[in-house]
Amino acid sequence: MIRKVSIIGVGGVGSNLAFNLLSNLEIEQLILLDIKQDQAKAVAYDLEDTRGVLDFSTQIKGTKHYSQIKDSDIVIFSAGVARREGMSRLDLLRINAEIAKKSADNIKRYSPKATIIVVTNPLDIITYLILKQTGFSAKKVIGMGSSLDTSRLLNILAKETGVAASSQQAIVFGPHNKEMVVDFANRQKLETKKIRKAVQFRGAEIVKLFKNKSAVFGPSLVCSELIKAIAYNKNQIIPVSVLLKGEYGLKDVCLGTPCLINKAGADKVIEKKLNKTQEKKLKQIGFALRKTLKKLT
Ligand code: 2OP
Repeated sequence: MIRKVSIIGVGGVGSNLAFNLLSNLEIEQLILLDIKQDQAKAVAYDLEDTRGVLDFSTQIKGTKHYSQIKDSDIVIFSAGVARREGMSRLDLLRINAEIAKKSADNIKRYSPKATIIVVTNPLDIITYLILKQTGFSAKKVIGMGSSLDTSRLLNILAKETGVAASSQQAIVFGPHNKEMVVDFANRQKLETKKIRKAVQFRGAEIVKLFKNKSAVFGPSLVCSELIKAIAYNKNQIIPVSVLLKGEYGLKDVCLGTPCLINKAGADKVIEKKLNKTQEKKLKQIGFALRKTLKKLT
């Protein structure tokens, strides 16, 4: 049984995540916080109405008041503006950075022991800003980006090869943007470049079709798997965005890397062995990111 989970930002991902959690995990208290309080309440009521079928005992509350997130074990930060067509993840930066900093202050105030999972874009930057603003341990602030990209890669490989996603050896790491590093065992002479591009642009492809919102099911499901790994102390290796402390020759930036996920959060960074090209690319990305962060902090 998980005691208390709070979701900040009850848009597409936040509300779908809440439904995944209620369907799959036992949680005592689930708080849905949004500046649009009526929306948070409406989602809470709608979710409550599934109790008759799902039979959960969870107390669900929709609110705009941060005091309600008091003593949460896990806080998901999914607030902010979603990417719209033609908007890069970086375009969102200014708006979402302000929202993130304000939320971080409140998370620190009301839930100083929580593990925070960040979903908002630009993912690696927002993860870093929340980490710095809260002053939490690096294990406790985890960006969900590379795990979504990895799930996307597994889907594409399964479709291309006719071999189940779970039997593929593949991972995506580095930044959660089109520079992400896509790595997979290519046993069937697949067109590496085509597959890489398909993964790198999948998020944007979905945004383009929706026009005014971004993906929902992928991000929220991957996020609930991450919550499960933390809550049930699973010691699972999952690629997430965390603070690097010298791994890959990079410091003081958050980027996607495989991590050991358990009740401590992202307990250990499992540094991936890189080939020369990947090493060079990741360094360039890291240094560029560091420059952006310097301007912001
Ligand atoms: C995605 O990759 C928009 O980052 C979001 O779907």
